[in-house]
Amino acid sequence: MPLGTTPNKFMGHVFLLLISMCLFACTEQVDEAQLLSTPTVRQAAVAMPDSYSADVAKDILQKGGNAVDAAIAAQFVLAVTLPEAGNIGGGGFMLVYKDKKSDFIDYREQAPLSSHRDMYLDENGDVIPYQSVIGILASGVPGTVAGMWLAHEKYGSLPWKELVEPAFNLAEQGFKVHPKLAQSIERYIARLEKRGFDVNFKDYFAGAKADQLFKQLELADTLKRIRDQGRDGFYKGQTAKIISDFMRKEKGLVTEQDLLSYEAKSRTPISSNWREYQLLTSPPPSSGGIAIIQWLKMYDLITRDQQKLTHNSAAYLHLLAEIGKRVFADRAEYLGDPDFVEVPVVSLISDEYIAMRSQTILRDSISVTELVKPGLKESEQTTHFSIMDKWGNAVSNTTTINLGYGSGVVVEGAGFLLNDEMDDFSSKPGVANVFGAVGGQANEIQPKKRMLSSMTPSMVLKDGEVSFVTGSPGGTTIISSVYLSILNALEFSMSAEDVVNKPRFHHQLLPKDVIRYHDGVDPAVISELEQMGYIMSKRRFGDMQVILNHEGKIDAASEGNGRGKSIVF
Ligand code: GLY
Repeated sequence: MPLGTTPNKFMGHVFLLLISMCLFACTEQVDEAQLLSTPTVRQAAVAMPDSYSADVAKDILQKGGNAVDAAIAAQFVLAVTLPEAGNIGGGGFMLVYKDKKSDFIDYREQAPLSSHRDMYLDENGDVIPYQSVIGILASGVPGTVAGMWLAHEKYGSLPWKELVEPAFNLAEQGFKVHPKLAQSIERYIARLEKRGFDVNFKDYFAGAKADQLFKQLELADTLKRIRDQGRDGFYKGQTAKIISDFMRKEKGLVTEQDLLSYEAKSRTPISSNWREYQLLTSPPPSSGGIAIIQWLKMYDLITRDQQKLTHNSAAYLHLLAEIGKRVFADRAEYLGDPDFVEVPVVSLISDEYIAMRSQTILRDSISVTELVKPGLKESEQTTHFSIMDKWGNAVSNTTTINLGYGSGVVVEGAGFLLNDEMDDFSSKPGVANVFGAVGGQANEIQPKKRMLSSMTPSMVLKDGEVSFVTGSPGGTTIISSVYLSILNALEFSMSAEDVVNKPRFHHQLLPKDVIRYHDGVDPAVISELEQMGYIMSKRRFGDMQVILNHEGKIDAASEGNGRGKSIVF
């Protein structure tokens, strides 16, 4: 096969099918000896996107709660103190490693029952600008409360009420607004006004001023119902009535029936051996787990017989961009909600397939984009946190309402922001939407289907112990943040602080030959890549929260650019 081309679609499918038939063992489990080994971790740690969630998570752990208890409490706190992404009106993924067993709680939003494939197209079949992004029609059915409830039923050790109480208090009594949050809210209101979007965000958030106390009383009442009635405090009774009445009034799609029928799902995480480690990561409807495994395995395969590449050198960036082209081509072709489409997970991360995929990678020049199938592009809010308790259990949790502040719509009477996750579907298969996103049939809208995600909460295990917990927000750039964090930690042996703060980069097939990068990449590297033909675009992404376990000595860090806080104790 000539360099720079991908196999044709038919051959690709046949190849995947053959590998699927003969491979069963890609999701390697921890072996028995590992299960019996004694945990070495004695310290606990949290790496959180803001100080309120960090302090509450630490309190819960210090009260004797486990990592899942702390994660549930933190998730609710973030719905109050990090409104751009923390939520009860959105969804997410929680990767759990507890008592040496792994689990993945999928609380992703799903398409409303009355949604349909062409709902964002006009009478000419063209995508209606912004409709899947801003306003009442942009929301999928929220999954967060169901997800936290399921996590608590399976793993919680402290009473549910105790875990929701801190969030309720922060909403009712108020919290001091971080200047970065106040600025972000101001900018968002200005943007909504400039573009003439008629949503009620300003009515609820204009009062959030830097360093002043900000109360959210409607949200407090909703959290009180969730605290007292659990899952039913959101999906049934008064909250469900408020949501569905509001939807009817505003001509939205989410009904009582949508809320009643929503279910969080427990899925098997993707697990794959990589070097002497076991990678534990996100299965579909996340695209991220498959992507990071492909990235790391191709990297190893191509570099195994040579001198280690210099961190953030032109050769390093180019190689990872070449791999990224293939990873994102697969993402567009094969990935969607596994309850609706067959996703060939085993095949896509098998050594045979990785070897085949690697053959076309060019070391000295850029593969022709048009010859590699296009990938998706997504928006960039979302938030992530990582927690490890003193028993060595860990949670890696990524949660989102999609764009910053979601759809910009607050449920009147319930006080929480609704997501705009419907934009993660492809509005029209094969055609770019207003943000340049391209998708295929696998990710088209269908009632109750979950939209494809890039959220990639992940962990690395060694001998059955958690060595590294990682994750980040950032739409499709999440995938780069996560695999780069694994290389930073394990290929380049960095401290947690360096793992999150060394400049990163991202390439995803489209836009053509564009590498997005953080400030701080060596200018000589930038020019070298420009000479090769790359278009270098400096724009920050992500907000990583990581925990490293060096045989019991814990190191944690929150990315410096955000307003996060990490604590080891
Ligand atoms: N909404 C961003 C993602 O799920 O990838």
